[in-house]
Amino acid sequence: MPPSHPSSEPRASASPVPGRAGTVALGRRLVREFLSPYWPTVGLAVGCMVVMALATAATAWLLEPAINQVFLGREAGALWWVAGGILAAFVVRSLSNYGQSVLMSRIGFEILTAARDRLHDKVSAMELRFFQAHSTGELVTRFTYDINRMRFAMANTLTALGRDLVTLAALVGLVFWQDWVLALAACLVAPLTMVPVRRLGRKVRRRALDTQEETGRLQALMLQVLRGVRVVWIDGRTEDMRSRVGVLIDRIFRRQVSGERARTLVTPIMELATGVGLGLALVAGAHRVLEGGTDPGSLTSMLAALLMAYQPAKRLANLYSIVQEGLAAVERLFRLLDTPPDLTEAPKAVALPSGRGRIEFRRVTFAYRPEEPVIRDIDLTVEPGEVVALVGASGAGKSTLLNLIPRFLDVDQGAVRVDGHDVRDVTLASLRSQIALVTQETFLFDDTIRANIAYARPEASDAEVEAAVRAADAWDFVAQLPRGLDTPVGDLGGRLSGGERQRMAIARALLKDAPILLLDEPTSALDTAAERRVQRALAELSRGRTTLVVAHRLSTIVDADRICVLHGGRLVEQGRHADLVNQGGFYARLYRGHEEGAPA
Ligand SMILES: Nc1ncnc2c1ncn2[C@@H]1O[C@H](COP(=O)(O)OP(=O)(O)OP(=O)(O)O)[C@@H](O)[C@H]1O
Ligand SMILES: [Mg+2]
Repeated sequence: MPPSHPSSEPRASASPVPGRAGTVALGRRLVREFLSPYWPTVGLAVGCMVVMALATAATAWLLEPAINQVFLGREAGALWWVAGGILAAFVVRSLSNYGQSVLMSRIGFEILTAARDRLHDKVSAMELRFFQAHSTGELVTRFTYDINRMRFAMANTLTALGRDLVTLAALVGLVFWQDWVLALAACLVAPLTMVPVRRLGRKVRRRALDTQEETGRLQALMLQVLRGVRVVWIDGRTEDMRSRVGVLIDRIFRRQVSGERARTLVTPIMELATGVGLGLALVAGAHRVLEGGTDPGSLTSMLAALLMAYQPAKRLANLYSIVQEGLAAVERLFRLLDTPPDLTEAPKAVALPSGRGRIEFRRVTFAYRPEEPVIRDIDLTVEPGEVVALVGASGAGKSTLLNLIPRFLDVDQGAVRVDGHDVRDVTLASLRSQIALVTQETFLFDDTIRANIAYARPEASDAEVEAAVRAADAWDFVAQLPRGLDTPVGDLGGRLSGGERQRMAIARALLKDAPILLLDEPTSALDTAAERRVQRALAELSRGRTTLVVAHRLSTIVDADRICVLHGGRLVEQGRHADLVNQGGFYARLYRGHEEGAPA
């Protein structure tokens, strides 16, 4: 997934089924990266499983002396050690079963945690473009569904190989040791089950892949419906959305039912095979006992072992589909983990010393898509404390230019410098600590008002938070809330108005107290009265700070120290309002449009 080819379509999250070589490679990599760190625990768990398997086989084996010596041989003394042996085998079996369960779930959650950490690290190292190119639903699916699938598949595979395979081997070994002729007769049916079980496994896998893909789509669609609920309503698309969601839900339902039917069919097939095997063993066994080829004790022990082999054999038969489902998820995870991080700190990155906030663009060119630059060869210096307004038509590249300063995006050519340091040579944390950002859309976290305002400085004192809220002209509405600053934003149930949210964002920026201030149309969503209040708060905020403000409103622009006009990604004019109007160029035209009431 090259980040340079973003698309707004929610991507199909399924991937082609890996071939055999792919499966082996994926499995190796999984073990290397996710399992080997926990090898002592894994070893202990597998040890428990082996003990459990041996105890199971021992139980079946003990039936032989029980029948031969106690019942047929009438040796009363043997009863005690046989009964004691069976009891001991069960105690060992349940203890080791408990042990392996605890250890296996621990390993499972270790894997889950490690995968989450790695995914989160990866996503944190991505540039803004990455987030624009991947739908939220898709990324959320990676974090929840895929990771859980991977944990489930790995834990099941380990258990199947450690417990079920060893148990099965021990039981089959016992059966052959007791009487190999009979064993051959009983196991005759086993190969016959292979074909239908494999075919069913493939079907289960296909259905599972489809379900995963469609569930990802459903999630993406649901997120859009929920976020865009007002658009859906006003444009009268409720029914349409309902039917689109309905179709998906219905399709997922049918796939799930069909997959489950195939999966469940494995059980009767295996049961039938066990029944036939038992029947064959019984008939052949009775003959051999009557002929004297074997004794009743061995026969009983064998039949018990065959019965006990049913469960592990069934689980092993199901393993195939579980592994396949898990691998599909693992492949998607690895694909995301393998995306090269596009936001790396230089190895010798130093902390940006806190300075006065001089911003320089030196011959900066940037393109979202190769060969289509949206910022072209821009040279611009913003002096400490200066307020520069960026104006230009929609799509001129204003927001893009702002995003280059905190390295939300990286330049393709040229350099952005802050206080003389190339932004790529300093640590991201130190760079971003020097910058406050207020955009048109204010994001509030699901936390208290205080936590939202003190987001950059959680350790700020009450007095500092209050001072910031007051300076942002937001104190009146915060003070009248039942719990003041401690009111959870969620409790307000979305009743914060655009202006109130905006002033909270300004308070957040004020409290951060950074020398550089980036404003991206902070007032364009507000009405005139709200705008005036926000405008005052912004004036307070930008005092003494190097400010780059993207503005459509004339009032903001006229007050700026300098106006820079962007057109098609180029800086075409700069100067003060009056001079630019007199010059009669781009700005004059924008300004005239303003006066006539048209949007700039
Ligand atoms: N993620 C992206 N992928 C591809 N192209 C993009 C992306 N983001 C923006 N663009 C394009 O880059 C150009 C500049 O966009 P930008 O958002 O910087 O404009 P703007 O001047 O801020 O416009 P507005 O005033 O409407 O906010 C536009 O043509 C836009 O379509
Ligand atoms: Mg913009």
